[in-house]
Amino acid sequence: MYWFQLWREFKLSIAEILSVFSEAEVLYSASSVLILNNISENDVLNKAKNLWWTIKIFELALFQDEESILDHIISLSAWVEGKFKYSLNLFWEKNINPENFLKKSKRTLKEKGISARYFNKDSWENLSSAQIIWNSILKKWFDLNIVDLGWIYYFWKTLWVQDIDAYSKRDYGKTRDMDIGMLPPKLAQMMINLAWDDNKSLYDPFCGLWTVLIEWIHMGIKNLFWSDFNPDMVKATKDNLYKLQSNFNFYYEVQLFDARDMWDSDILKKNNISKIVTEGFLWEVMTKKNISIDRINIQRNNLSKLYEKFFSGLNKVWFSWTIVISFPFWELNWKHIYFTEIYDILDKYVNIIPIFPKEFQFKETRSWSLLYKRQSQLVWREIFKLTIKK
Ligand SMILES: C[S@@+](CC[C@H](N)C(=O)[O-])C[C@H]1O[C@@H](n2cnc3c(N)ncnc32)[C@H](O)[C@@H]1O
Repeated sequence: MYWFQLWREFKLSIAEILSVFSEAEVLYSASSVLILNNISENDVLNKAKNLWWTIKIFELALFQDEESILDHIISLSAWVEGKFKYSLNLFWEKNINPENFLKKSKRTLKEKGISARYFNKDSWENLSSAQIIWNSILKKWFDLNIVDLGWIYYFWKTLWVQDIDAYSKRDYGKTRDMDIGMLPPKLAQMMINLAWDDNKSLYDPFCGLWTVLIEWIHMGIKNLFWSDFNPDMVKATKDNLYKLQSNFNFYYEVQLFDARDMWDSDILKKNNISKIVTEGFLWEVMTKKNISIDRINIQRNNLSKLYEKFFSGLNKVWFSWTIVISFPFWELNWKHIYFTEIYDILDKYVNIIPIFPKEFQFKETRSWSLLYKRQSQLVWREIFKLTIKK
């Protein structure tokens, strides 16, 4: 069994993990952790690279007491030549005092003639992802984890930690302003994961700033289709794809196309599209200075006309695969103004697929959607997984 340490927005973390590890058995879930069974180390290592809402993963092996953990640390030290370097993380700290445990472990190793050093500083705390990545802890050290339940313990070394530098390695360009409403890449990743299966051809009919696109390419999806009704966006997307093709191998089509005409989409007619993943349109991106209820209402009205046509078009052509889409809603004077018109449109044309299995009682909203907001933005996103009604 494996411990998945979750981000603060834990529902997004859990939704993503359960999509990626759809075969796994859930043993336990809470706001900081998900414990999965029936997966192998290979599974974890192969699939974890596509997780964006998980901080760290380690296996859980059962230990009866502190002494047996210490014995195990000694046996781990036999795997290394030279100094045995380790770091310690403690979860649910019921019994163990981490500072004392570290000192005791070092003393015990010394008594056995093993030269050892631990990474944690005197004022003890768990290592952050940044510390683990930037100090190459997983390559040069053993990052050890103890889950202390008070009467029994789980212990093992870290298997995987999220690459927190991954975004800076992406070529998002300098023209983007995250504050004005760009789809956060991490959210794009999660949405792709929600739609994930082995069938790898995807379509974004509101391709915009090609965020979803870049993430698809990085995830190794090979057949990619985009359209947008703004010629500038289509040109920018084409230019970027052209650049990306020197590093990645994929087939793509980009079209100037109005998503209100989905019933007549060449992309859908001619290709075996298996997923639509899209952020959709936010309309005007408002700032703190100009947001008002009137502006929001105009936006809701415009957006409902757009989505009415979009979904009725998909319904007409019986698009039968999964759609993962996010719609905006707004925050005004600390109150949420929801895009309620969309619920009626969805009711008419789609089936909403619950994102969590039934045993998870914390469905985020009445409509089984997920909510997300970047701290600096006034626009929230409501994410749905859908299929078109027949
Ligand atoms: C918020 S952006 C989408 C962001 C994008 N998914 C990304 O990954 O960066 C919305 C895009 O929808 C496009 N759009 C709006 N209405 C449209 C329509 N009727 N048909 C096609 N594209 C449309 C806009 O031109 C804009 O580029």
